[in-house]
Amino acid sequence: MSDAQSILKNSQEIRKLGSGTSFKAIFVVSSLFQKNDKNGKPYYEMAVTDSFGTIEAKIWSDASWFDRSDPNMEASSTAKRLEDEKLRSLAGCSVGIDGKTTEFRGQTQFNFNKITLLDQDKFPPSQYLPRSPISLEELVKRYEELVSSCRPEVAEFIRFVYDGDTWKQFRDWPAAVSHHHAYANGLLEHTLSVTDCAKSMAESLRTSGYDIDVDIVVAGGLLHDLGKLGSYRMGSIPEMTLEGAVLDHIAIGYSKFMELAEKSGLDNSLKLQIAHILLSHHGQREFGSPVVPATPEAMVVSSADELDFRVFCWKDSVKDLTEDQPISQWHQATGRRFWNR
Ligand SMILES: [Fe+2]
Ligand SMILES: [Fe+2]
Repeated sequence: MSDAQSILKNSQEIRKLGSGTSFKAIFVVSSLFQKNDKNGKPYYEMAVTDSFGTIEAKIWSDASWFDRSDPNMEASSTAKRLEDEKLRSLAGCSVGIDGKTTEFRGQTQFNFNKITLLDQDKFPPSQYLPRSPISLEELVKRYEELVSSCRPEVAEFIRFVYDGDTWKQFRDWPAAVSHHHAYANGLLEHTLSVTDCAKSMAESLRTSGYDIDVDIVVAGGLLHDLGKLGSYRMGSIPEMTLEGAVLDHIAIGYSKFMELAEKSGLDNSLKLQIAHILLSHHGQREFGSPVVPATPEAMVVSSADELDFRVFCWKDSVKDLTEDQPISQWHQATGRRFWNR
């Protein structure tokens, strides 16, 4: 790390700074809105994100905006002023920030005095955004192992689905916009956790003498949230698409799955069994599934999905708890408080 980089602060460090402290940082712009103060003078409100979180800042009219996005520009040359057109389309871009903390009505506020649009190839926004704590390499390895464990007919179909752009999206997408795995590679992380867990359960049940097809469980696990590729979009922060809001990922996933199953000529019985897993994976009608799990394979996948969701929420809720306060706030989505035992 160069000297210039070592003085950079992340959003977590900046939040802890005392009032009147200057800082430098690199962020991705999440949103930028122009407003007017009470004297009619324009100012901006900017939300920026890095891998530690999001902070909101005010940018007053005396701030300077620079453009260093041109890769051919010498590092030593003076940066040019940022044109208005580029300023308006700053969301999703990485920027260099010079800022200062101030206090307003007892609350810490952040002011940005200098905003520099960076060379987006040299400072790719994805590098600065929240992502899965598990490395992509590790995730891809686990995915490959799961697919290869299936009989050729099933493995080939999974590879047919997660091919080209679909694979890239599946690899990079968040699993949700809030609640769980709402960061880059979150969908892959959640899918693998569900599938690994479901596979172990299926193997245990088979050892106990139940008739269960482990390969169908693996395929169902890997494909269960396929519809999320249509219901989310990965900008600087995860966002829901219009289709996601009005159709939901279960319906989107089912229709995409049926289209690909027809196209690849997947065996009819396999097609019906996997389709049933996709449609029933939320376990109950009131949670968005039009049918409830009716096979051992579907029961296992929906249980693993719910378990992964709850354990993730536990982990996320207890991470900031202290020894004298080991019980979390009420967690709406799971209907409980969590305990950091
Ligand atoms: Fe789901
Ligand atoms: Fe899921």
